[in-house]
Amino acid sequence: LKVLSVASEIYPLVKTGGLADVVGALPSALVPHGIEMRTLVPGYPAVMGALETAEPVHHFDHLFGGPARLLAAEAAGLKLFVIEAGHLYDRPGGPYVGPNGLDWEDNALRFAALGAVGSGLGLGLVPGFVPDTVHAHDWQAGLTPAYLHYSGGRRPGSVMTIHNIAFQGKFDAALAPVLGFPADAFSIHGIEYYGTVGYLKAGLKFADRITTVSPGYAGEILLPEGGMGLEGLLNDRSSVVSGILNGLDTAAWNPATDPLIAARFDTRRMKARAANKAELQRRFGLDPDPDALLFGVVSRLSWQKGLDLLADNIGTLLGLGAQMALLGAGDPDLAGRFAGAAQAHPGRIGVWLGYDEAIAHLVQAGADALLVPSRFEPCGLTQLSALRYGALPVVARVGGLADTVIDVNEMARSAGVGTGVQFSPVTPSALHLALNRTHRLWQDKVLWKKLQRNAMATDVSWERAAREYDRLFRDLVAERGA
Ligand code: ADP
Ligand code: GLC
Repeated sequence: LKVLSVASEIYPLVKTGGLADVVGALPSALVPHGIEMRTLVPGYPAVMGALETAEPVHHFDHLFGGPARLLAAEAAGLKLFVIEAGHLYDRPGGPYVGPNGLDWEDNALRFAALGAVGSGLGLGLVPGFVPDTVHAHDWQAGLTPAYLHYSGGRRPGSVMTIHNIAFQGKFDAALAPVLGFPADAFSIHGIEYYGTVGYLKAGLKFADRITTVSPGYAGEILLPEGGMGLEGLLNDRSSVVSGILNGLDTAAWNPATDPLIAARFDTRRMKARAANKAELQRRFGLDPDPDALLFGVVSRLSWQKGLDLLADNIGTLLGLGAQMALLGAGDPDLAGRFAGAAQAHPGRIGVWLGYDEAIAHLVQAGADALLVPSRFEPCGLTQLSALRYGALPVVARVGGLADTVIDVNEMARSAGVGTGVQFSPVTPSALHLALNRTHRLWQDKVLWKKLQRNAMATDVSWERAAREYDRLFRDLVAERGA
């Protein structure tokens, strides 16, 4: 079975969040199921620079404003198709924003190209790889199922996966004629969305199947708060909506072999974990105190992640005699609040602003608990690495966080199955109570060790998810062949 994955990020070539991790991990997870997945990505400089082999397989005279080539390429063990289009992708900055932090003005065209080429590949543009199914990720790939639909001919099945419904790809209606759809496509039954062209809406409208990255979030997006405007459409299509929980790249995130941490450990060698805590305290300028409960954070700094609740609770942490090591990048106001707290409380609060893979691993290996107070979380990957590294996750009871962390409540305790702490609602006072509850658990050393062992034994691998994607793709092929 052949599947074309269409995405705007792929680890390790280009990443702004968990989307890249998932897109990068899925192809190899599907190999044991006999699925050949190739991924179509834009040719940003970071992608072009990483290609190990590249063979032109198609030439476009005009791809939304200039000539372009489609490359069949390999990099970092990934089989790729890459759109080499200088006018769209060859520029400094991030995949979505320029060096000034603002969205690229031509994002509509940059990702229409991704959708159009994804659809073209789906329809047989490259005879050597004609996919049975096309799998589009998030709004950037959202036009793919729509272009396939309007192609009118025989087409492969399509799957639209939502990693984050907050980003919907809404663009000026004036663009509609430029995109190459028939005139009647700009309607509520097509790509129109509240007077704009809606890329995610288009994908959700026309994909044969809709998935998101946890069963919990699959339920939440059917409600007004969770659907963020798309709940009506999703309810109409609820019979094809499902949630498949992400896995974790357990080769990159393995405390027994991790080259990025100070000392390697596993459930039988937990003493070595203390060396990581000591190193984490040193790197973050925290007091070298093995007995202080050390909370870690690895996060984008954004409204979604609820870290303002944590900034409101610095006093709680200090009152408990706890420490915090925060690694984060994003919102300047939040960054400023945390930097201020670190300055005011050296030795207790440590902050590392920026994106740093190695520090992320050290935080997971050295922190006693990992805080994830998200307002919403489609899946979340940091709590999965935390489980695997024995940093007990303290999480908001939402989306994928609720699906992956077993709260140490009375019943979990008597059944011996707890792996962390959940709190709800997502408010500063509920987080305050959760921090206190975590501190009480920490004081019971025997219990804490047991919880760490439970956490580290959790299956966070891709195998379960791969089985579910395999079934989804095969059902779809059977349905369309019938
Ligand atoms: P999201 O995709 O919403 O940001 P996820 O938890 O799914 O959230 O994925 C975040 C990914 O990005 C994880 O792999 C995490 O380790 C990584 N990450 C987030 N912030 C940082 C940072 N400041 N430095 C290094 N890695 C980070
Ligand atoms: C998004 C979500 C995150 C999820 C990731 C990968 O970035 O915010 O919860 O884990 O996609 O699916």
